[in-house]
This record gives sequence, structure tokens and C-alpha cells, in this order.
Amino acid sequence: MEFVELGSTGEKLPVVGIGTWKLGADRQGSVEAIRKGIEFGMAFVDTAEMYANEEMVGEAVHGEKVFLATKVSPSHFREKDLMRACDESLRKLNVKVVDLYQLHWPNAGVLIKETMRAMEKLVDEGKIRHIGVSNFNAEELKNAQDSMKKYEIVSNQIEYSVLVREFGDSLFDYCKSSKVTIIAYSPLGSGALFDERYGAAHVVLDDIAKRYGKTAGQVALNWLVAKGNVSAIPKAGRLDHVEENADAAGWKMSEGDIKTITDLGQLKAPIAGRLNRFTKRTAPFWSNIMTKLEKKRMGR
Ligand SMILES: NC(=O)c1ccc[n+]([C@@H]2O[C@H](COP(=O)([O-])OP(=O)(O)OC[C@H]3O[C@@H](n4cnc5c(N)ncnc54)[C@H](OP(=O)(O)O)[C@@H]3O)[C@@H](O)[C@H]2O)c1
Repeated sequence: MEFVELGSTGEKLPVVGIGTWKLGADRQGSVEAIRKGIEFGMAFVDTAEMYANEEMVGEAVHGEKVFLATKVSPSHFREKDLMRACDESLRKLNVKVVDLYQLHWPNAGVLIKETMRAMEKLVDEGKIRHIGVSNFNAEELKNAQDSMKKYEIVSNQIEYSVLVREFGDSLFDYCKSSKVTIIAYSPLGSGALFDERYGAAHVVLDDIAKRYGKTAGQVALNWLVAKGNVSAIPKAGRLDHVEENADAAGWKMSEGDIKTITDLGQLKAPIAGRLNRFTKRTAPFWSNIMTKLEKKRMGR
């Protein structure tokens, strides 16, 4: 496994980690998939209070040497709510401290200063080790950083993949220059990369993959990693997918092949980029609905 520096902390993060959204309904299968991923070197596990699966993730990582990240929902960005949400996540994950605590989505209804100061308090109390954000654009990221007194934002989790570029292109440069690590979510386009709809892109990836003895999925993840300053977090419930994803790093494509993939351009509309203006104004409303839906998915 290759590693990338987390922000400017000196700490190393595997360039391919484990996404866990939609894992958990099959609890045993999910625990097994996460453990296999860790065993294969993807020792970075990302969850969120919104996924309603923190207990399962806690069970999977128990006793494992892993970098554990979770996210607070935008409905909990007031100080009191945030402190309570963090305690809940720690309890469910069955840990005393979480490595990375991220704001899941911007919430324009709460002053960012209040939220970021509360995040700093959590570091001081020893409940979280690092502060991250998710779905923040460059301006939101800068405002959040400027609101902090003592610590730095180490990461921004955004949607980025061979299929979806829009939200990330300029943000990539901003984050690189500000020493904020990009955590690329939905790095396989939420599975769309394997749909017939994107067959043309798949043919290109497949063609390149064959020359390296790899698969299209591995090439798609490797292209992300090659950008630098990135850790990609594919979700895989199938064990053969887990194994495949772990072998997406540790080898390099030629500049020409990377350019061929880059030149495919954006093929799928991003979920986050398009909706961000709307979602950050309605965050408490939809994040509560999402949590309910996820609980239903988990059979609770
Ligand atoms: N911060 C945010 O707002 C946000 C939003 C969305 C997602 N995320 C994070 O990002 C993670 C990943 O994103 P995602 O779940 O949307 O989608 P994704 O990782 O892009 O794609 C997951 C899909 O790809 C399949 N897959 C995985 N590896 C494969 C392989 N090697 N070959 C073929 N198919 C493969 C999976 O199937 P199987 O499961 O059957 O193996 C699943 O259907 C989430 O789990 C979550 O942690 C964050």
C-alpha cells in the first residue's frame, strides 16, 4: 500500500481506504469485508453518524490497527449538539478517540465559527485527533479554517472519480497548496463506472488495464491516486471487490495513459456539486431524512 500525508501532520494515510456507506444491513458480511480490507492494507475506514452503521464499523475495527474517521451530520453543528453527537459516535464505535472527525456537509444555518471552535474543543478534550470537512468548496474551507484558533483542517472529503470531476478540479489545486488532503468519495462513481451507460469510458479503462494486468476499477482508483494528495475510499461489500481495490495502488501508469483518462472529462453529474447550494441551506431537514432512511436500510 502507498501512503499520503494527512494534511501537514506528518501522519500517513493509505491512498486507498474503505468507504462504508450502505454497508451494515448484512452485518456479518460487512464486518468481514472491512476486516479483509484492513488485512489487505486499506487501514483507513470512513463512516458517518448519518450512515447508521457506526456500531457495525466499531465491531469491524475492534482490536485492529486502523485510522478511523467519522462525520457529524449538519443538523448537529451547534456546539451542544456537536459535543453530544461526538460522544454518541464514540460510544457506537466503541472507541475513546476517533482519528478524524469531519463536518459531513456545509450548513449555512449555523455560524461556522461556533462549529469550528467546538471541533477544536473536541481535540482539546482528547475525543478526536484531527479535524476534517466534507463537501466544502474552497471558500467554505477557507472560512472554516479562518474560524479556528489552534488547529488546522487536515482533509476535505469530496466526490471525485473518472466519471465526476466538476466539484473537484479547482478544489484539488486549492487543497494541495493549502496542505489539505483530499479524501475522494464515490471513487467508482457509486458503481456507475460498471454500468452500460458509461460503457465507452469502461472500454478505455479496460484497454489500459489489460496492459498493466489490472482491472478497469483498479485503473480508475489508480488514476485518482496518481493525482497526489489523495486518498480514495471505495465501498465494497463483495470480498473479491475488496481484494481488487487493495491492489489499485503501488504501481504506476504512464503519463500518456493518465492523460487519456483525464481527457475523458466529466461524464456524470456530481451529486454534491450541483446540490451544494441547496443542501447547505436545508441541511438539518435532509440530513434527518437521510438518517431515517439509513436506519431503515439497517433494519432498525
Ligand atoms: N462525504 C459524503 O458526502 C459522501 C457521499 C457519498 C459517499 N461517501 C463515502 O464514499 C464511499 C464510497 O462511495 P460510494 O459508496 O458512493 O461508491 P463507490 O465506492 O464509488 O462504488 C461502490 C460500488 O462499486 C462496487 N465496487 C466496489 N469495488 C468494485 C470493484 N473493484 N469492481 C466492481 N465494482 C466494485 C460496489 O459493489 P459491492 O458493494 O457489491 O462490492 C458498490 O456497488 C462511501 O461508502 C462513503 O464512505 C461520502
